Amino acid sequence: MNNIILIGFMGCGKTSVGIRLSYLLKQAMTDTDRMIEKLSSMTVSEIFDKYGEEEFRSLETDCLRKLLQEPDNQIISVGGGLPMRSENRELLKQLGKVVYLRVTAPTVCERLSEDMSRPLLQGSNPEEKIRELLEKRSPIYESAADMVIDVDGKDFDEILDEIVKKM
Ligand code: S3P
Repeated sequence: MNNIILIGFMGCGKTSVGIRLSYLLKQAMTDTDRMIEKLSSMTVSEIFDKYGEEEFRSLETDCLRKLLQEPDNQIISVGGGLPMRSENRELLKQLGKVVYLRVTAPTVCERLSEDMSRPLLQGSNPEEKIRELLEKRSPIYESAADMVIDVDGKDFDEILDEIVKKM
């Protein structure tokens, strides 16, 4: 399929870049977290609290399967942990071009310092958790990506420019 899928760690800018890309390319934008919240009538945090991470990952898989049945040419922003399931990586490949927005831990900490509400960052030391998770996930994001864009220190225009040039 012909979609553009944005992957990357929490706070890398998937949603903000996705919205701008959708305006620029005049293509519809979908966000898997919002899709799951709408379908389940629960917030992501409520799903984690009530059913746990594995169940949330299964909902992400269902979501990708649904998107495979929809018209393509969409910009799809996915939750930061979605590519961690190998089944999901396979589905991402079928959906279209996978763009990894790569960010470093200090930038994530700075961007999320105002909002550490994400379920996986709960606990005593969210900054340590960010570093650990990012280290573990980075090679997986890279293996899932058709294109890698380093986003640290770049504004949205530069990021969009780079994505469009590399398409
Ligand atoms: C998660 C990232 C979140 C959301 C959920 C789990 C993760 O999405 O899907 O809290 O495992 O990294 P964002 O990357 O959009 O914050």
